[in-house]
Amino acid sequence: MLNLSIDSLLGYPSQSITEYDKHYNSTDYYWGLVPNHLCYEILRLKPPTRPYKVLDIGCGEGKDAVFLARNGYHVSAFDLSEQGLSKARALADHCGVEIEFFRADVRDFRLQKNYDIIFSSGVFHYIPHELRGAIIDNLKSHTTENGINVINVFVKKPFIALPPDIEECEIDAGIWKSGELLMYYHDWLFRKNEERIFDCHSGGIPHQHCMDVLITQKI
Ligand SMILES: C[S@@+](CC[C@H](N)C(=O)[O-])C[C@H]1O[C@@H](n2cnc3c(N)ncnc32)[C@H](O)[C@@H]1O
Repeated sequence: MLNLSIDSLLGYPSQSITEYDKHYNSTDYYWGLVPNHLCYEILRLKPPTRPYKVLDIGCGEGKDAVFLARNGYHVSAFDLSEQGLSKARALADHCGVEIEFFRADVRDFRLQKNYDIIFSSGVFHYIPHELRGAIIDNLKSHTTENGINVINVFVKKPFIALPPDIEECEIDAGIWKSGELLMYYHDWLFRKNEERIFDCHSGGIPHQHCMDVLITQKI
């Protein structure tokens, strides 16, 4: 009668096609299959001597989740894009690993279970300013003792032009301020705190990004 899905009525995001669904709608893997270098930092800092539980937030097509599962971690991973998740499931099947994949929106999903390692790459710019404190508090309180959070965020710098292919919603949500992420973790141990500038060719026009990378440990 209201012409609304149950998801919308309950406040969940609609199942509509996201921009990423379009990128992922091909047999090629949009982000490739090479794991993020931060996965090696996870191996170094928390080697899988026990079946540590990992959560990959915004896992995309699953390259990092699958790499970590192949190395002995118990991995859960979510993304907003159903298309990404279906490719991630196919990759996990192909590699013979079990991963709990589910669809969720980082903006309204709140963790109920604890994890030893929480990882997110290239996603937190979708979190609006006003939700950042609550979301990060939730991640921190659901990290086990000595567990780590491994997160990177795009940051704004006055000397780097905004990328040409940036979506309106990304500007609205707001790229992070340099140093903003680490303030949320001031009471944890910093294992890595780095800012780096890199070249990018997405959208066909060469440009640069600046990224803050933070690995923190709950002591
Ligand atoms: C730049 S990609 C990074 C994907 C993956 N982490 C990687 O590095 O290969 C950003 C990902 O965030 C997902 N995403 C965007 N908004 C989201 C949201 N609100 N909740 C969960 N995932 C979201 C997109 O679908 C996309 O897969």
